[in-house]
Amino acid sequence: MLLSVPLSERIPGVDIDNIQMADRIPPGETSLIMKLAFSLRIWMYKAYPPTKHGLPQIVDDINVAMKQAYTKYYRKVYPAPKLPEEFHHAAIPDLGRMAVASPYACFLHKDVNGALVWDFTDLDLHETYAELRPLGCKVYFKLNKEDRTLSATRITSVLGDISSDDSRWRDAVLTAMCAASTQISLVNHFNGVHLSCGGPLSIATRNHLYRDHPLCRLMWPHMFGTQNSNYLVTKGQMLKGGDFETIFSFTHRGMCGLFERTYDSYKASVIVPDLDWTDRGLPDDDFDTPVQDNQRALYDVMYAHTSRYIHAYYDSDEALQWDEAVQAWIRALNERLPNGVDSILEGKITRKSVARLCAGFIYMASVQHEALGSLMWNYQMWVDKNPVRIHVSGKRIPVDVFQRLLNANFNLNVNRAKLMQDLSYFALDEKGRAVFLQFLEDLKALERVYAAEKPECWRVTPAMLDANINA
Ligand SMILES: [Fe+2]
Repeated sequence: MLLSVPLSERIPGVDIDNIQMADRIPPGETSLIMKLAFSLRIWMYKAYPPTKHGLPQIVDDINVAMKQAYTKYYRKVYPAPKLPEEFHHAAIPDLGRMAVASPYACFLHKDVNGALVWDFTDLDLHETYAELRPLGCKVYFKLNKEDRTLSATRITSVLGDISSDDSRWRDAVLTAMCAASTQISLVNHFNGVHLSCGGPLSIATRNHLYRDHPLCRLMWPHMFGTQNSNYLVTKGQMLKGGDFETIFSFTHRGMCGLFERTYDSYKASVIVPDLDWTDRGLPDDDFDTPVQDNQRALYDVMYAHTSRYIHAYYDSDEALQWDEAVQAWIRALNERLPNGVDSILEGKITRKSVARLCAGFIYMASVQHEALGSLMWNYQMWVDKNPVRIHVSGKRIPVDVFQRLLNANFNLNVNRAKLMQDLSYFALDEKGRAVFLQFLEDLKALERVYAAEKPECWRVTPAMLDANINA
């Protein structure tokens, strides 16, 4: 039985008490090579820090800066970042377009006054470095009914209340892009996917679904390795001198406060695109929503899979409700995920609600992890349009911060087990095998649909997806 312990206890030096982690790495997940590699990396941070105060800023031309940092040795392993179409021509990104066609589409919601906004105001609750611009800001969008688009009209931030015709609009937009980039990496990706959802899912599954339980076989490919990976990656990113405090704007104390606050407000509804859309108060068909459409299509394939699978093993809702392992698993998920999973189950254990939840977990481990993590390679590196920190002096970021940003994003694109593979060896029997194989066929069919369309940096396709969140 894995126990949950506070992060501060599991990893001394990261003073966060409310985030829970497994008390140990379960047998079978430990990798000596990975452990040694991470230990060496963390030792190197201390012995030879990769960032040093006072280094020169990157050169003015971002393409030259990219060539200098992303050398031919890196390029042999992984292609250089692509420039999103939204960054091609304009001096600054069109936030209205970014709100529906970029990884930052996840931030769009209606505020209490009914305005369509991105709201990063709360980032000001946490300490940032004195030489950097604070990130708290709010972007207001207006709906253009005729062409079904959005336009950003106003941004409030430390710079003031600035409308789109103001000469300071560029600075306001860059502040919003920096806030979005920071929030997606720290809050949505690492705190949300890894710590709030992935970790608790793995603990609950290991503790309550025995090895030959049908739901264990369904979930296993999407959670195996989580405790090992979360433990090592948290150390590498969140200890003093780690990636987060040296790349983004928050001091170590500020970063810990941000994680502490946002862990408690995590909502599991984000793992079900339709529910998330409703939860954000967004209208059904007022404007074009390319990212949302993409995410719905992927989720639908996952839901069809989990629905087929659960119907194969349970011939009635009662049969599922009487399964004590399922009851215990759901109880543990409700206890361990901040704010539980009842928003997805709507308080009822049925084949439909559990299929929705299981599809949400597969979607979280594959689609969300890609959209909020690896996909940032093509956005976060273009720091002229999407700054990772903003110096109040007007200087560009120093070469060491740029290099570390690049290395951190490069690590997110290492080769992992792909989702689009034959997972039928996890099946208990022939009927399970057939369901896993059908899932693979459905993923391939969706991939063919996307292969026929114009490539877009914001689009996630089945072939890009990994089976789980683990390094
Ligand atoms: Fe990740």
